Amino acid sequence: MEDKPVSSGEKMIAIGSDHAGFRLKEDLNDALVEMGYAVHDVGTYSEESCDYPDIALTVAESVSQGEADKGVLVCGTGAGMAMTANKVPGIRAVVCNEPYTAEYCRLHNDANVMTIGSRLVDFDDARNILKVFLATGFDGETEAGARHARRLEKIRDIERKYGKES
Ligand code: RB5
Repeated sequence: MEDKPVSSGEKMIAIGSDHAGFRLKEDLNDALVEMGYAVHDVGTYSEESCDYPDIALTVAESVSQGEADKGVLVCGTGAGMAMTANKVPGIRAVVCNEPYTAEYCRLHNDANVMTIGSRLVDFDDARNILKVFLATGFDGETEAGARHARRLEKIRDIERKYGKES
């Protein structure tokens, strides 16, 4: 699988899809560049069948290692991508097929990977969902939002319990 060049911009977004998400991923990649983000497109680069866990792992590792600020993953439903990405310590991937989840998974859960289903969401809605996801900050750093930070620490405790430090 050949990597495309990384586009320039301030914040780096890693994006990927399987064959089912390929077309929407291409459009979201262009939309991100238009919004001023640097984008690392890890593939896939055609509609030829491929396995979503391979792509999800690459994007999730890019985020967990700090190469990308956030990750975006597209498959048919968003489900397989989220399941896989969440196996990587430190990744909080959420299926965002509508804007409310995109907003609140940032505010309350500090989600760092957004997944989306190309068979459920058209491009205009997907672009809006992505905009909301990227524009919303985590609320856990304020006194009022301290409960959210405490809950994330409990997720990390579970990772530690199973030997998956993040
Ligand atoms: C591919 O047919 C489909 O299973 C995949 O894109 C995804 O929806 C899995 O979660």
